Amino acid sequence: MNIVVIGTSYVGLVQGACLARLGHSVLCVDIDESKVARLREGVVPFFEPDLEEIVRSEMQAGRLSFTSKITEAVMIQPAVIFLAVGTPQSENGAADLQYLKAAARDIVAAVQSTALVVIKSTVPPGTSKKVKEWLGSDFEVASNPEFLREGKAVSDFFNPDRIVIGTTSDRAEQLLRDVYSGIFTQVFVMSPESAELTKYAANTFLASRLSLINEVANIADHVGANIKDVEAALGADPRIGNQFLRAGAGFGGSCFPKDVLALDHAAREHGYAPKLIAPIMEVNLGQTELFLQKIYNRFDNIEGRKFSVWGLAFNAGTDDVRESPALRIIEKLLERGAELCVFDPYAMASGRLVLGDKVTFAPSMMDALIGTDALLVLTEWEEFLYAPWNTIAELLSERVIFDGKNFLPHKDLRDVGFEVFGIGLN
Ligand code: UDX
Repeated sequence: MNIVVIGTSYVGLVQGACLARLGHSVLCVDIDESKVARLREGVVPFFEPDLEEIVRSEMQAGRLSFTSKITEAVMIQPAVIFLAVGTPQSENGAADLQYLKAAARDIVAAVQSTALVVIKSTVPPGTSKKVKEWLGSDFEVASNPEFLREGKAVSDFFNPDRIVIGTTSDRAEQLLRDVYSGIFTQVFVMSPESAELTKYAANTFLASRLSLINEVANIADHVGANIKDVEAALGADPRIGNQFLRAGAGFGGSCFPKDVLALDHAAREHGYAPKLIAPIMEVNLGQTELFLQKIYNRFDNIEGRKFSVWGLAFNAGTDDVRESPALRIIEKLLERGAELCVFDPYAMASGRLVLGDKVTFAPSMMDALIGTDALLVLTEWEEFLYAPWNTIAELLSERVIFDGKNFLPHKDLRDVGFEVFGIGLN
C-alpha cells in the first residue's frame, strides 16, 4: 500500500520506517529540510534502538523515502496519510493543535480526497471531527493512537498489546486493518472520540499507578517498610499486575506529564472537573522534592558540594531528556550552589542543549566520579547496575550514593561500605 506519514519525530519516524518493513511504500514528510536531508543520508536525529538500521535498509530496498514537500505526496497517490506531528502543551495545559491544522491545510492543497487521513498524534477527544472540518467533507478521517515507549518503540510497534482504530466507516476500518495486516494482535474498533480518549486514559492510568506506588514508597519511608518487598507482593495479584510498579524519584518524558494535563483540560472544557487527575502531577513533582530532601538531609550544606550524576535521560534506552526528573534534580542542586559532573551513555548531546556549561560533562561514567563527594544515579541504564563498586568506593570522597530509580543492588553496596539512599527502602 502507498502511505504518507507527516512528521518525522519519534512517533512518525517509527511509524514510517516500521510500515516500510511491513512491506508498504512509505513517504515521510517533514517541513524541517535539514532533518529530511540527514534522514536521506540514513541518519536518525535521535537514539532509538534498531530504528536507524531499519531506516537505512528500507531506504535501500526502495520502500522508504523522505521529502520536505507535501506536494510530492500527490505523486505516490497514497491510500492512507498518517498525521504524526507534535501536539505540545500550551500554556493553559491544553494540547496545542496548530501543527495538526497546518498539516491539514497542506493536505487539502496537495492530495486527492480519496486518501484516508489518520491521526496518529496524541490529541484530545473531538479532534478527528475538527480535522475533518479543516479538510472538508470529501476527506475521511480516522483515529489510530500509538502506544510506543521511547527506548522500546520498534519492539512495541511490531509486538503491540492492541491496535485501536477510531472510525465509524467500514472503508476506513478495512484500510487500517490492511495497513497492519502483518501484525498479529487484538484490534479494537470504536468511535474516533473513544479512540482518542483511550490514548489519554492509557497514559493517565499508567501515570496514576506511578504516583500511587510513589506515595506508597513515601509511606514505606515513614513506617520502616521496604517498597521492593511491597511491590513484589502487590504485583503478584493479577488484578494489580507487576508492570509499572517501580517507585522512584518521579516519572518524566514527553508524554505522561503533557497528556495527564491535557486530559484534565479537555474534561474541563467539556464541563466535567476531574478530581483524581491533577494530583497525579502534584505527587510527581513532590516526589522529586522528597528525593532532593534526602540529599539536603545528608549534606546540610550543598553550596560548593561536588556531586557526580549518572543518567540524564528520562528513561533508559533513549537520549530524550524532556521532563526528565534528572534535569529537575540537577537544576535544584545547581540553585543551591552544588557543582555537578554528569554522564549519560546516550543523552550527553541532548543534556548539553538544556544544561549548557552549568555542569561538567564527563567522558565516561568513571571520569564523572573523580573529585566528587557523592554519586546520584538518575536513569536506569544497565551499565550502571554492573559498575565496579570497589573502585568507585576509592574514587568518591564520601561513600554516599543516592539511587533515584531504586534499582541498584543496595545490599551489595552497603557491604562494600557505601551509605545508600533510595525511596522507601528499609
Ligand atoms: C509512555 C507510554 O508507556 C506509551 O504507551 C505512550 O505511547 C507514550 O508514553 P514513554 O513515556 O516513552 O511511554 O516511556 P515509559 O516507559 O512509559 O516511561 C515513562 C516514565 O515512567 C519514565 O520516566 C520511567 O522511568 C517511569 N517509570 C516507568 C517509573 O518510574 N516506574 C515504572 O515502573 C515504569
